[in-house]
Amino acid sequence: MEIILKTSDLQARIALYRAENKQIGLVPTMGALHKGHLSLVERCVKENDCCVVSIFVNPTQFNDPNDLLNYPRTPEADCALLEKAGCHFVFMPSVEEIYPEKDERIFDLGPVAAVMEGKYRPGHFNGVAQIVSKLFAAVKPDRAYFGEKDFQQIAVIKEMVRQLKFPIDIIACPIVREVDGMALSSRNVRLTPSQRKNAVNISQTLFKSRTFAKEHTVVETTRFVIDAINRTPDLRVEYYEIVDGDTLQPVDSWRSAPHIVGCITVYCGEVRLIDNITYRP
Ligand code: PAF
Repeated sequence: MEIILKTSDLQARIALYRAENKQIGLVPTMGALHKGHLSLVERCVKENDCCVVSIFVNPTQFNDPNDLLNYPRTPEADCALLEKAGCHFVFMPSVEEIYPEKDERIFDLGPVAAVMEGKYRPGHFNGVAQIVSKLFAAVKPDRAYFGEKDFQQIAVIKEMVRQLKFPIDIIACPIVREVDGMALSSRNVRLTPSQRKNAVNISQTLFKSRTFAKEHTVVETTRFVIDAINRTPDLRVEYYEIVDGDTLQPVDSWRSAPHIVGCITVYCGEVRLIDNITYRP
């Protein structure tokens, strides 16, 4: 495994694989890697001849400067995990390397980007589109891997790929959970032990809501989830929306769409956590 800091060096290495018609896979990350990321890397290694993992805490997607400041950074541990997972190249550019000048591009990513995270984190998806489009242009992977914990992000990236006509397959990989059900996230390390204990109520409530939903409406199920989580110490729901899993627009009945997903954001103390659950696969 090689650690690469410059885009031109990465492109020179990848060109050797391309010249032999090899398949290139990319796993974009912001580091602080956990088993969720590793599941993407393992799949990327299995499905491609060359696995590139990028580690870059992208400043343009943080609308809260404190969140950017406190985002965990563990580059040495990340590289050790990636080496073990069979990654070929770790791309760890500096901010100056990625943004030698301010990225002024504004993406219009349509209705999938306007709801939920789009509403509560203005500018977030524009920043995601800026960095992911730069990584796609630099690496030109055949496939790129993203975790379904960021359910809306995948829909937004697919829309960007469609608009910009990138010939890249976007592979969505299932959420990886702790044994108690908590979705793995780089932000979980910021929780105190008692917050972590309370935070499990997010996934536990989502699981229970699947049974509740069998005999209740969408509105009642939404209320059930929000009330149960808000009753837990430390937890405050920012939004819970039950949406069409393809368009991400809210649904008003279980029959409104063939694919229905509930997406949640909860503050646990200062830490913003997200999760989701499928009601109709
Ligand atoms: O999901 C993430 O970690 C980030 O949003 C991504 C896709 C690596 C872009 O910075």
